[in-house]
Amino acid sequence: MPRQLEQDDYYYDNSSSSADAISIAGLSLALSYENAAIDRLEKRLQESIVPEVKQKIKQHLQQTREQQQRLKDRINALGGGMEPVAEKGRLPIPEPPRSLKMMIESNSSEKEREVWESLNDLIIERAEAIMYRGGIQALELLKADKKTIKALEKNLKEEEAFGDWLEKNNPKIARKLMTKQMQHKKQRKKKKREEPIQEQDKDVEAISATVT
Ligand SMILES: [Fe+2]
Repeated sequence: MPRQLEQDDYYYDNSSSSADAISIAGLSLALSYENAAIDRLEKRLQESIVPEVKQKIKQHLQQTREQQQRLKDRINALGGGMEPVAEKGRLPIPEPPRSLKMMIESNSSEKEREVWESLNDLIIERAEAIMYRGGIQALELLKADKKTIKALEKNLKEEEAFGDWLEKNNPKIARKLMTKQMQHKKQRKKKKREEPIQEQDKDVEAISATVT
């Protein structure tokens, strides 16, 4: 009867080939998320209505392309010319119940939608950072290839920097957008209130024109 794997087997099986296999799996997983991140960043770049957010997204899109390349290079190096994964993973965007999602989408203004999406931007960047941090820890434990760990550290730094920017600026941008929206609503209300008076004025003008 074959011997069952014991816990020690996991601890002591530090052969470079198994570390490489785990590294390739981790790198491929990260790459699949970055592949999906590219799509989302391109969409956000088109849809965002805040110039400074657009600028930051554009910059991070470029970084993400470089991250993809870094991951592909390591997969290639460790896998002996192995073809990197082209599929896209699912990004960790919270999914509200369908009815609630429809309610939010159909009732939200352009500015409100920007605020919703900026929260998702932050969630994604933080999740990416968590993923890289966990991956680095695992590869350090496995005493995996140093160049691979370095590549993941570079990606992590960029995710953290963009996440920090979003965390700091999202509330300010949201406040600005919502203030503008409220001002706009107030102006519209005021205009509506004044309209009947203007109509009255027009009538007076018309009357005086006929009198003279
Ligand atoms: Fe990112």
